[in-house]
Amino acid sequence: MSTTKPQGTEEQGDVSPSRRRFMTWAANAMGGLIALVVGIPIVGSIFTAIFKKNNGNSWVTLGTLDQFPDGQITPISFQLASKDGWMKTQSQQLVYVSRKGSNIIVFSSICTHLGCRVSWKASLNEFKCPCHGGTYNDQGQVIAGPPPKPLHRYPNKVSGGKLMIHTSDA
Ligand code: FES
Repeated sequence: MSTTKPQGTEEQGDVSPSRRRFMTWAANAMGGLIALVVGIPIVGSIFTAIFKKNNGNSWVTLGTLDQFPDGQITPISFQLASKDGWMKTQSQQLVYVSRKGSNIIVFSSICTHLGCRVSWKASLNEFKCPCHGGTYNDQGQVIAGPPPKPLHRYPNKVSGGKLMIHTSDA
């Protein structure tokens, strides 16, 4: 009785050593390729996070000092550039500049309750939040409503006759 195998079929133990080596090499190469494809973005995102620059963490010029009359609280907008990984964004921010002689305070317009935009009411000498009635005095201290803390104050400096604020936590 003949025991010939049909052509094109191999049982598991019949794979030649050179073919087995090739298959092992191919499987390892494929595994390495998959690791590269998956690993490069992960490593890239780690390095991006490490070297990420946030342009919001810098000094921004609001304007010349004469734009902010003595004894008043003046609103002014500025463009805040920020970078998150590869994403660059620009957003318009509103702040209030309180000037009393050389004493300058720059308030954020963001309510500390839930982030609505407050507005300065000169006739009342108060900042008012339209959302839940939060009220702040001319020093940015909470005098009514739910805000848990005063308005944020930006670090500021005058350089070359220009008022600048530091936007590290804008
Ligand atoms: S967001 Fe301003 S009081 Fe609620």
